[in-house]
Amino acid sequence: MTQTVPQGLPMERDAGPFDPPSRITALREARPVSPLLFPDGHEGWLVTGYDAVRQLMADTRFSSRQDIGIIHVPYETPGMPVQTEPSPQTPGLFISMDPPDHTRLRRKLTGAFTVKRMKQLEEQIIEVTERQLDELARLTPPVDLVKEFALPVPSLVICELLGVPYADRETFQVHSAKFMERDVNLEDKMAAFGAMFGYLAELVTSKRAAPGEDILSDLARDDDLTIEELAGIGFLLLLAGHETTANMLALGTFALLEHPEQLAELRANPDLMPGAVEELMRYLSVADIFLRYAAEDIELGGETIPEGSTVIISLLAANRDPKRFDDPDALDIHRTARGHTSFGHGIHQCLGQQLARIEMRAGFDGLLRRFPTLELAIPAGEVKLRTDMNIYGVHELPVTWTDAAI
Ligand code: HEM
Repeated sequence: MTQTVPQGLPMERDAGPFDPPSRITALREARPVSPLLFPDGHEGWLVTGYDAVRQLMADTRFSSRQDIGIIHVPYETPGMPVQTEPSPQTPGLFISMDPPDHTRLRRKLTGAFTVKRMKQLEEQIIEVTERQLDELARLTPPVDLVKEFALPVPSLVICELLGVPYADRETFQVHSAKFMERDVNLEDKMAAFGAMFGYLAELVTSKRAAPGEDILSDLARDDDLTIEELAGIGFLLLLAGHETTANMLALGTFALLEHPEQLAELRANPDLMPGAVEELMRYLSVADIFLRYAAEDIELGGETIPEGSTVIISLLAANRDPKRFDDPDALDIHRTARGHTSFGHGIHQCLGQQLARIEMRAGFDGLLRRFPTLELAIPAGEVKLRTDMNIYGVHELPVTWTDAAI
């Protein structure tokens, strides 16, 4: 490889809090499928162009069996050995599986997450959101919107759906934050994973004995699934169900506050909300980096990716590709953002996307309606960005207001 191959994945948000790192943008323009040298010296690939990203995600020769998937990022986790073959599978964690194992487990859940089923839950989700906004309105500003709104809403909803006691949130929020941190060593990540897995194994064991009215109970009734698989599925849904949407709600609010004309339009015309949510998904791409493992030599974007390579996908870079979206770095709630890659593509496309959409529509709608004078309580440049975490967003969003509709 030549000297020009970048070392490690650029993460610094030097172009602005909502934009891809400038080195990622430059790489996409120069070579949308490009070699990348990991900090430990081994070679991999970085895919940033829209067409190449879609093609890759639709191609199951790019295996999802890379370590333990969402739990950590192998090339930069201290102590992580270089992957030389598809990793062993963690029971239930089907985001990191290939067919037929992935197919078998995902199929067990499709009924629970259909558009129709989610539509039926919409009222309930709106209720949870409005109750949380009642509590927010009773507080004296400034408050941290992450702690008081963006994190509780999706956590409450996913706990309710799965039948996980919300009172136990300390347990899973602390541990899930550990996996999401980039710079935590392998041992600590495994310890946090073990703790959460143990907690969920106990929970699903009691559900198998006395099932209730929730998704984990429904799965526990199915003898085809082991306790380990149930715990793994619970872990995946719990983590994916609250971390991602929480960051979209908080970072999305920050982005809207930084685009006051579009915020005003959205307030005046709530019918714009579904389109605005899609555009925020495209523009922010909070779940940006995903990994695959090349199970054989594969041609992609005019390059040959050799068998055994670790391949990094940047969904954010793909969503800002000028070959696919006009003026891609502008937030424009009027554009048709459909076709964005923020929920992935292919067989692993986000299972919870309808749920996430409903939560975001209800969340932004309620927040804008009930807090007409909402604003940042600190200068935008001081907002703490989650460049140290696997899901992007803000650590805190201090906001204030002068009048709220209780
Ligand atoms: C998969 C993003 C919300 C559950 C994915 C993938 C992406 C994604 C990009 C594909 C991963 C891959 O190809 O390796 C997001 C974003 C969300 C969100 C941005 C919020 C705004 C949710 C919610 C749930 C959920 C609320 C709750 C159930 C899942 C699951 C998978 C997944 C189970 C794995 C699907 C599979 O492997 O077949 N998500 N997600 N997600 N998501 Fe989401």
